[in-house]
Amino acid sequence: QAPLHITNEPIKSFESTSTDTVLLKKALEKYQSKALNIPLIINGEKVFKDKDFGTQVNPSNHKQVLCTYAQADAIDVQKAIDASMDSKQRWAKMSLDERAAIFLKAADLISTKYRYDMLATTMLGQGKNVYQAEIDTIGELADFLRFNVKYAFEMYKQQPCESTKGVWNRTEYRPLEGFVYAVSPFNFTAIAGNLFAAPALLGNTCVWKPSATAILSNYLLMEIMLEAGLPKGVVSFIPGDAEKITERVLNDKNFAALHFTGSTKVFKNLCKNIYSKSHYKEYPRIVGETGGKNFHLVHESCTLKHTVLSTLRGAFEYQGQKCSATSRLYLPESISKEFIDMFKAYLNEIKTEDCNENIKGFMGPVIHEQSFDKLANAIEEAKKDPELEIVSGGEYDKTKGFYVEPTLIRTSNPNHKFLKQEFFGPVLTYYVYPNDKFSEICKIIDNTSDYGLTGSIFAQSREAILLANELLRYSAGNFYINDKSTGAVVGQQSFGGSRQSGTCDKAGSGSLLTRFVSVRSIKENF
Ligand code: SER
Repeated sequence: QAPLHITNEPIKSFESTSTDTVLLKKALEKYQSKALNIPLIINGEKVFKDKDFGTQVNPSNHKQVLCTYAQADAIDVQKAIDASMDSKQRWAKMSLDERAAIFLKAADLISTKYRYDMLATTMLGQGKNVYQAEIDTIGELADFLRFNVKYAFEMYKQQPCESTKGVWNRTEYRPLEGFVYAVSPFNFTAIAGNLFAAPALLGNTCVWKPSATAILSNYLLMEIMLEAGLPKGVVSFIPGDAEKITERVLNDKNFAALHFTGSTKVFKNLCKNIYSKSHYKEYPRIVGETGGKNFHLVHESCTLKHTVLSTLRGAFEYQGQKCSATSRLYLPESISKEFIDMFKAYLNEIKTEDCNENIKGFMGPVIHEQSFDKLANAIEEAKKDPELEIVSGGEYDKTKGFYVEPTLIRTSNPNHKFLKQEFFGPVLTYYVYPNDKFSEICKIIDNTSDYGLTGSIFAQSREAILLANELLRYSAGNFYINDKSTGAVVGQQSFGGSRQSGTCDKAGSGSLLTRFVSVRSIKENF
């Protein structure tokens, strides 16, 4: 095997007069000029429907329909399952080199030929600015496709066995016998891609249900995979009613794995449903990444401006809709006023805006009306609650798009539900603790939330860093020291949390890949 030189794809700066910006604007216009009619893709065939369409609108301007899309019924789901089982033999027999070529080519197509299309569809459909779209579709998506190849080769190379004289022991990394069900979220096109690409690289076949609010970018990704040479049937693209699709999938005895990113509630229901059945040919693997209540813990020894800016980015970039977004903040009394004054001064400069027009605008809309309403209700609740005080923001408006101001809330109660519940939007709640209660606040952070996804300590004191590291060991699967709780880089910080945040199988690492193989040991005597 030739050595692999895989590196992170660089992000472009999109200066206003650059060719990149001109090409991106053209792509944005193209997808805004006409609503696409998107089919299912089953066994490599496009399946158009003449009724029961879904519709994806632009969250920055919800009157604009971006696409209508076919929704899978029970027969379509069965066809997708059948296609995955039929294509399995050939796909699984291909060598890793041959399969890898397809994913490496797809990564190249994404970062070159289709770069502006990927960016435009993600910006329009999922409400991202150009920077957030670049780190998603170029940085993370292309990186996942390439780094998985590197990790797969490393895994295949491992031989956890010795062979003695007269004996030849081998280890085989078989794909799972059945098919993988990939259920993806709206917030990262990259995550959607990895949910099917990681298992498929290893010879598995997948039935993929994309999120209704990410159809446009996800369909383009599916087309790119086919252009890169993914054989028909290996991945089927079936948007539609989650419950109906899931019911059909889980009733099939060949269901072999769930690869999920989404809400804790949906994941728990899926787990319950899977565990209640006993008809499966193999024990299904369950791999999930779910909610979070990610924290920034600030120590009095922190570097103030860096901590303020990191918190601003962690909480409000992509409108707080990253699984890893900072949503609770703990400040020491001695610096809390200075911190909040500086934080508010920056917040005052941020306005929510249509980032399809101002492609570098800091804050766009939240994804849809349900999310907007949930956030608006939370803000109204905060206005009435004597234990909460809105310190900045608190306005929202859905006249044109689903815009919610970045909102900062102070609570006087360290156990308040605003420090426990996930809102998945631009709402940050903070609590001020006495300086001499640092270890107590670590314990409170650990106990208040059921989640364990991401968290950060900001401190220059080594003692504080060590204490936080020890006391918050299970509070965050991604723990950052003097960095924001968001922005894991593939190949550098693998991503995923434990507790109610998921199975901690770590996207962007070799450990994720081990979940989608069934290891066979072979012994031969001579
Ligand atoms: N990987 C992203 C981050 O770390 C979230 O999915 O922010």
